[in-house]
Amino acid sequence: MQICKTIPALRQLLDGYRKEGKSIGLVPTMGALHSGHISLIEKANSANDLTVCSIYVNPTQFNNQDDFEMYPQTLEKDCEMLKPAGCDVVFAPSHNEMYPDGFHENLIQLNFGGIAEELEGKFRPGHFNGVGIVVTKLFNIVNPDKAYFGQKDLQQFLIISKLVKDFSFGIDLVCCAIVREEDGLAMSSRNSRLSQEERNEASLLFKVLSEAKEKLIFGEDVSVVGNEARQQIASNQFFKLEYFEIVDIKSLKPIHKINNLEDIALCVSAHLGKARLIDNMLVKTSKVGVN
Ligand code: PAJ
Repeated sequence: MQICKTIPALRQLLDGYRKEGKSIGLVPTMGALHSGHISLIEKANSANDLTVCSIYVNPTQFNNQDDFEMYPQTLEKDCEMLKPAGCDVVFAPSHNEMYPDGFHENLIQLNFGGIAEELEGKFRPGHFNGVGIVVTKLFNIVNPDKAYFGQKDLQQFLIISKLVKDFSFGIDLVCCAIVREEDGLAMSSRNSRLSQEERNEASLLFKVLSEAKEKLIFGEDVSVVGNEARQQIASNQFFKLEYFEIVDIKSLKPIHKINNLEDIALCVSAHLGKARLIDNMLVKTSKVGVN
């Protein structure tokens, strides 16, 4: 496994492989890797000649300075996990490499339209602009055949799908299923911020999502199901609920009546101690999230 820290070094390496006709799969990450990330690497490895993993804590997508500063950086340990999973190349650039003119001012502005204004968009202003910028950079630097993202960040996946389509990137996007801990908590690099007490409560989100999904399948009223779910989370003293929404999978707008169970996603975000947790569940597995 090779580690590249600069764009020219990575480009030179990948050009060599491309000349040999090798296909390239890209897995963008911010490091602090866990089994969820590794599942993306394994998927990329099984479908491409070469798997590239980028590790970069992208400052332009953080709308909270503390969150950025607290973000764990564990490059050595990450590399130890990546190698046996079949990763061939790690791209771990510096800030100067990615943003030579700095990243506080003069950022290009991407307008993703309504889809970026729902859910996370209401609570993390500027977040998807930063994601769009860094993913565009990574696509241009790596020029992969396929790129792998997790359903864990469902809205991010939909936004990157729009980016690829609207900018004609010609990259196949693969959305990978959410990897969970045994009690259902979705794996996240931010889970390490939870105290033992908070960790014991953390599976509530999974429980509430699962129950709400069952109720919808059973035919219960959408607004009743949504309100009960919100109430369950809000009444737990450890959680500070941001949103629980039952949405249309394409527009991410809240729905009020069900026409087709395949079109629905349940999405939740809540603060638990120092961590902000997000999770989601599809009512019926449709295209997104199917491996
Ligand atoms: P990061 O949070 O490190 O996640 C990297 C990829 O791993 C994302 O596509 C995310 O959806 C996926 N992932 C995270 N937890 C997962 C889980 N439990 N199961 C399955 N997949 C999971 O998402 C980002 O980084 C950044 O926004 C990035 C796209 C790299 C741009 O900076």
